[in-house]
Amino acid sequence: MDQTKTPYFQALLDYVDSGVIPFHTPGHMQGIGMERSFREFVGDNICAIDLTPMPGIDDLLQPTESIREAQELAAEAYGADRTFFLINGSTSGNQCMMMTAINPGDKIAVPRNSHKSMLGGLVMSGAHPIYMQPAVDQEMHMDHCVTPDTIARTLDEHPDIKAVYVVSPTYYGVAADLQAIERIVHDAGKLLLVDEAWGPHFQFHPALPISATQARADMCINSTHKMLSAFSQCAMLHQIGDRVRVDRLKSVLKMFLSTSPNLPMVASLDVARMQMATNGAALLSRTIDLAQETRRRLNRIAGIYCFGEEIRGRHGVFNLDPTKITVAVKGLGYTGYEASEILRRRYNIQVELADLFNVVALFTIGTTSDAADRFVAAFEELARDERPVDLYAPSGVLQQRLKKGSYRLPEIPPMRMLPRDAFLAQTEFVKFRESKGRICAETISPYPPGIPVLSPGEEITDGLIDYLRLEMKAGTRIQGPYDDELKIIRVVKE
Ligand SMILES: Cc1ncc(COP(=O)(O)O)c(C=O)c1O
Repeated sequence: MDQTKTPYFQALLDYVDSGVIPFHTPGHMQGIGMERSFREFVGDNICAIDLTPMPGIDDLLQPTESIREAQELAAEAYGADRTFFLINGSTSGNQCMMMTAINPGDKIAVPRNSHKSMLGGLVMSGAHPIYMQPAVDQEMHMDHCVTPDTIARTLDEHPDIKAVYVVSPTYYGVAADLQAIERIVHDAGKLLLVDEAWGPHFQFHPALPISATQARADMCINSTHKMLSAFSQCAMLHQIGDRVRVDRLKSVLKMFLSTSPNLPMVASLDVARMQMATNGAALLSRTIDLAQETRRRLNRIAGIYCFGEEIRGRHGVFNLDPTKITVAVKGLGYTGYEASEILRRRYNIQVELADLFNVVALFTIGTTSDAADRFVAAFEELARDERPVDLYAPSGVLQQRLKKGSYRLPEIPPMRMLPRDAFLAQTEFVKFRESKGRICAETISPYPPGIPVLSPGEEITDGLIDYLRLEMKAGTRIQGPYDDELKIIRVVKE
């Protein structure tokens, strides 16, 4: 196919050129009815192509013309049999994959550190999750990927599992051994689903980890908006082979997608694919070089460490995406949260993520060398500052965490109800310290590492209560519960 073409974007341009008199949604009628200050800021052109599905423009739910061609071009570029454009991010991709692969009660192996949209997929599909613990890195205070060994063991222990769901790469850019995982999963006759939200660029450069489509996952998702140039919320779902019921996938997508998709978003997916297919290797080479050079410069600053190739081969680290820079700042005496806040306040720099020990910066095809210079200069200055907090003081957060073994996660508790049943059940709040034996109806994740220690449907044990109370004493943030301080917890009503 001709990858220089952008059939869907072109269809929108043709409509604008044809001067049609609009009597259709959206109500701003190509910008005429839009509040002037907003229109002047966003520009006339984006308003002109904010249209609705109609003949000549095609329909995302039932593509027969230019969207169909745009999706076929994307499938070819990614080496998939079919590609579907998504307009509610990989969040909807996770939900659609599970709703396609799983029937209520079917078992699916999932990493404990999955994104919360995976849980949405479990609740919607009624799946029975078999949780797999990812590799936890005590030294770097983060979790990596689930290993092939863990997957093989899980399949041995639960031969009735229907599908294996893997997250690769992680938020920090660590990639799993997808080829080994594919062999294990397919040899066992199961489906492989991959959340590759953070790896839409892998397909287009040989120095990046292999993509989930190259590894022949049955279905995978990419947040095209995260690391490539599509608008926010734009993602793709790729499907390969004949293990997935394509008719079911198509019906699920029809159920999840809006009947009024934002067409500039859809066009941005078409154009982002063309950009990568025609020029991706060159653009990404520049990005990778800039990121690697920045990593080297940062690593020359005393007190800072940005991991790179040297950690390859550690448990759960098969490969790395060099375009994500994780800056460990504990040697500077800051927490990641503080460093992130100072970067923003003092240097006007906003990073993607901060945790207790790190900040994470994305380097993409849109990152300039000037921005990279300012990033490095900010850290050089930060390293010269007086240390603001002594994380190693006896009462310091870090010392307390290190003392108690930091990342020795508790055992995954017994599952008493499916996540869906617990989520939809009648619930009540009880005091957390008195909740032993109750069935949890929410997700409780100390962050970092962000791995849920309790998920909906699981029994609250004494060990977990002790563990979580200690975490909170040590200053760890708890994600997920209704009550941030976890004085009360939502449980299934008895
Ligand atoms: C691993 C993973 N999967 C899925 C998602 C959801 O992606 P989106 O924001 O495109 O809906 C995220 C978002 O951060 C993520 O980190």
